[in-house]
Amino acid sequence: MRIAVVGSGYVGLVAGACFADLGHDVVLVDNDQAKLTSLRSGQTPIHEQFLPELLERHRGKRLQFSDDLQTAVKASAAVFIAVGTPPTEQGEADLSYVESVARSISGAINGYKVVVEKSTVPVYTSDWIRKIILRNAAAPDSFDIASNPEFLREGTAVTDFLYPDRIVIGVDSERAASVLRQIYTPLTDGSYYRKQDAIPQPDRARIPPPIIVASAKSAELIKHASNAFLAMKISFINAVSSICESVGANVQQVCQGIGADSRIGTRFLNPGIGYGGSCFPKDLMAFRSVARECGYEFRLLDEVMRINEDQRHRFLRKVRNALWTLRGKRLGVLGLAFKGGTDDIRESPGLLLVQSLVQEGCVITAYDPAAMERARAVLNSSVQFANSPYEAASGADALLILTEWEEFATLDLKRLHRELKYPIIIDGRNLYDPDTMAGLGFSYYSVGRAAPIAEGSTAGAGRPEGKLAQS
Ligand code: UDX
Repeated sequence: MRIAVVGSGYVGLVAGACFADLGHDVVLVDNDQAKLTSLRSGQTPIHEQFLPELLERHRGKRLQFSDDLQTAVKASAAVFIAVGTPPTEQGEADLSYVESVARSISGAINGYKVVVEKSTVPVYTSDWIRKIILRNAAAPDSFDIASNPEFLREGTAVTDFLYPDRIVIGVDSERAASVLRQIYTPLTDGSYYRKQDAIPQPDRARIPPPIIVASAKSAELIKHASNAFLAMKISFINAVSSICESVGANVQQVCQGIGADSRIGTRFLNPGIGYGGSCFPKDLMAFRSVARECGYEFRLLDEVMRINEDQRHRFLRKVRNALWTLRGKRLGVLGLAFKGGTDDIRESPGLLLVQSLVQEGCVITAYDPAAMERARAVLNSSVQFANSPYEAASGADALLILTEWEEFATLDLKRLHRELKYPIIIDGRNLYDPDTMAGLGFSYYSVGRAAPIAEGSTAGAGRPEGKLAQS
């Protein structure tokens, strides 16, 4: 099928590359000339596993890049809108890019098209897109609007797309449903997974994935409600971790116990320093605004957001409790991205913590496997950057772990112990086992678990080697 994807940001680029891998002819449309040039010349603008391979495989063949929206729409049976919906000052989603794309599409409708919302948008957006296209003189039976929300996590977006838990299509006509079903047929009939060069299957893949057909409004709500629920799960366990700290319980054991109930599950139940990223914070605010507009005060979401912020402040207090005063303290920081596996620093709780610590007078040397370039642009010269976790730790009064990169869970602890001025680790992601760390001579503070007394209190004591806790 011929498909146009409008917007080559995170969602559009991944969707476009994956549609091409399913065998469709895709035109990715963007008005950012610099981006188009870099995509055409073989660069991958984001850090995303398997994306460079897919772009390499399809660039100039099944995947074209263009700034000509009208021509792309004319040539396509389905047009996916994947432009940004940034938050306004009031926390609502700014839909002006979506509206402007809808207006342009209307002038290029030369036969039946399905216009599909791929960006995360509030309920009723499909109605608005329809109105805008009609207002600009397209015939009512020449198009349908559909919603096809994405559930892509940064870092694993390609496999999330190709091995989804479910495919949601929100349609209000059988004709539109049939176009969308056809697009996803290689996944739903399993033929994609039999291909020699299919992107490798991740753990827990559901093959073939189920397709859920809903109304466009239901699909719009599915997206917001899914993200709100996941954020709620994280805030819930973060709240429980605070209680664990007060009573001396271990949040990891609590998670194991509650997560074993198949109705709850263990995923997205990892306590930490709060959620961040380009989706959860923005989508929760937008969902709350949508609810408010519909006459419902979704106070649960207020609380989810409050707990999330509080979790960061609690971590800051933990640093203070471990080090007493902060002014002039040298801290090594591991992790600046909003989570592991990405270079994205948007709404990164780790980055926000670093900024607070700098304000308190700490001297910070930070390391992140992928996000340092982006972080440098925000932090300027307030922070120094290291080339490795060990360089970040070198001579530091304490080491902070702020992002759950796999690399940080497999550090050479013996070496780390030698590098630090004092063997103090404050781990915001629970990557290590407290008893093991104490056995190695570290003063180790984590989230929702008691801080054990280190065996031997001075630097150099203990034997840093041993088994890591499961993260
Ligand atoms: C999220 C959704 O998961 C995805 O379905 C949606 O389409 C886009 O938003 P993403 O923002 O890439 O994806 O990150 P995700 O893996 O969901 O993590 C979000 C934040 O929650 C990160 O800061 C992460 O560190 C934090 N998190 C996640 C936790 O603190 N604990 C957990 O158990 C899981």
